[in-house]
Amino acid sequence: MKKAVRKAVFPVAGLGTRFLPATKASPKEMLPIVDKPLIQYAVEEAVEAGIDLMVFITGRSKNAITDHFDKAYELETELENRGKSETLELLRSILPPHVTCVYIRQAEALGLGHAVNCAKAVIGDEPFAVILADDLIVHEDTGGLKQMVKVFEQNECSVLGVERVLPENTQSYGIVKTSPVADRLGQVDLIVEKPKPEVAPSNLAVVGRYILTPAIFDKIAHTTQGAGGEIQLTDAIADLLKDEKVLAYEFHGKRYDCGSKMGYLIATVEQALRHPEVGVDFLEYLENLELH
Ligand code: UTP
Repeated sequence: MKKAVRKAVFPVAGLGTRFLPATKASPKEMLPIVDKPLIQYAVEEAVEAGIDLMVFITGRSKNAITDHFDKAYELETELENRGKSETLELLRSILPPHVTCVYIRQAEALGLGHAVNCAKAVIGDEPFAVILADDLIVHEDTGGLKQMVKVFEQNECSVLGVERVLPENTQSYGIVKTSPVADRLGQVDLIVEKPKPEVAPSNLAVVGRYILTPAIFDKIAHTTQGAGGEIQLTDAIADLLKDEKVLAYEFHGKRYDCGSKMGYLIATVEQALRHPEVGVDFLEYLENLELH
């Protein structure tokens, strides 16, 4: 029987060292882009793709994420008393009523593969999505994950979201070598974590979107420490390739690497310019900006 992608894993237990001290008491996925935290953009993308169970793999500062998706009784009562109905509606619409959230603790940040494996019991024997919220994908009509779910439905195998990066940047990504299948779609022949440009098999990088078959859990269980001393999801996918077809899909849309300061700043400026409330004024401000 065909199984639909209903569950998504959001690993949010990384140390976020590149954003310290901002990420000392709060995960980097709570950093806002204009007026929404990164994690909310990611959850909205998952909801659009048909996901109704969100599994958050949290670390030491888990409360911020739990609180964000929880009902905020005091704040809601206060807004009600003040007649702020629009703001109240905005708060209440953070999570649609049909969506369930599960929180699992990753006691130690042992790597992305390890984080994903923490979700094993909740995922069970189903295909599932993994979303790294620090990769923000902005699109005009269909979200990145929804595009990938379509590819999954047509092929019933794991699908990795990929993008061409500058050849000098391969060391920041999992890099795939593929054989062409269709427009924007290739079959993964090889996947390597953070290769140096001189040995990288291509410049096609896996960015923070995956649809994986449950076979990945057995592979993670047999994965030893890889790049950076961490249990790497990339290494488990390399193992999965031996048994199953894995596709790489170049999604439509613009990706911002919000795990880096530059990517985060670019995302903030561009989203501010797109923002219905402040976009026009912000553009005017930028056009007249003089730094002294
Ligand atoms: P990163 O490689 O961006 O690491 O993790 P990081 O620790 O979050 O950030 P820096 O590099 O120190 O600044 C990629 C994703 O995997 C999650 C992170 O939260 C992020 O979404 N992750 C990573 C975990 O949940 N657990 C881990 O053990 C490692």
